[in-house]
Amino acid sequence: MIVLGIESSCDDTSVAVYDSERGILSNVVSSQFIHLEFGGVYPELAAREHTKNFLPVLDKALKDAKISLNDVDVVTATFMPGLIISLVVGVSAAKSLSFSINKPIVPVHHIEAHIFANFLVKEIEYPFIALVVSGGHTELILVKDFEDYLYIGGTLDDAVGEVFDKVARAMDLGFPGGPVIDRLAQNGKEVIKFPRPMINEKGENRFNFSFSGLKTAVIKEIRKGIHTKEDIAASFQGAIIETLLKKTLDACNEFNVKRVVIAGGVSANSKLREEVSKIKGIEFYYPPLNLCTDNGAMVAFTGFKRFSKYKKGFKLDFEAKAKCRIDRFPQLLRDFHT
Ligand code: KG4
Ligand code: ZN
Repeated sequence: MIVLGIESSCDDTSVAVYDSERGILSNVVSSQFIHLEFGGVYPELAAREHTKNFLPVLDKALKDAKISLNDVDVVTATFMPGLIISLVVGVSAAKSLSFSINKPIVPVHHIEAHIFANFLVKEIEYPFIALVVSGGHTELILVKDFEDYLYIGGTLDDAVGEVFDKVARAMDLGFPGGPVIDRLAQNGKEVIKFPRPMINEKGENRFNFSFSGLKTAVIKEIRKGIHTKEDIAASFQGAIIETLLKKTLDACNEFNVKRVVIAGGVSANSKLREEVSKIKGIEFYYPPLNLCTDNGAMVAFTGFKRFSKYKKGFKLDFEAKAKCRIDRFPQLLRDFHT
């Protein structure tokens, strides 16, 4: 079965072709460098760029996969969550394609796609804790099965990737900032003890995160001009990683789970990968670098899993949404089976 995957939830336009027998045949990602001068994603520009980039990206994805549109059996797209005016570009394109080639459409949740990107490399046993760390999300989810999710906690303010980007902007390092901070930190030392927000939180907020205070503390330190960029990057990254891993391990304990799947753009972070390799008694999984940040392959694969489960597509009037927690998505889909 050939599945087309479309991703447009933020600033990357991506189309991929997944073959259930041969795996990923193509995965074309067009990143929008136009946001560089803003130091963040500017929604209207992002949507305009998606409309410009979509057809060339689709064309290349089909050519790379050596197939034509008529070979596609199922069309999938990220429907939520994300920037709504970006999402509707990919979703409208997916609906038009599905309608014109008369093939089923399967909606995918963005966070779900990040998590199941890991399955493109290796089937992972359930249950596991998913630590989703991206530009828009920081979440802990207990994944009991495909479509059986328990939301454990998330950020109360900024997402981890967003904080990486804002700290990088304060140091004039360009956008996206995560990869630059990651590289700088490799030559720095953790000499500044930044706050680890909510790390010892008890009660109902114990699995929630808050990174805006840490962000402010780091930006203040940058302005003082005492420490090198490398040391600030290493100290900041250290505070983030310690906080993320403490809560992830607490979740493993509480739910008696021995597997953790890390997903989303920040899962590319080299220090995070190094730190999890030191943890004993828990199996950690993270995607290959090209599948960490937004891509169509993770969408095609998750759509394939959904189509395999129901053996049918969904109604064309299922709409894109800016917000929807992963645990609520399967329920939302229930009214839209064809
Ligand atoms: O998953 P993603 O492509 O988009 C969202 O769904 O938000 O994640 C993008 C985020 C950006 O904030 C970027 O700075 C961050 O992932 N990122 C990293 C690294 N590579 C990308 N953060 C830390 N270290 C990295 N190596
Ligand atoms: Zn993402």
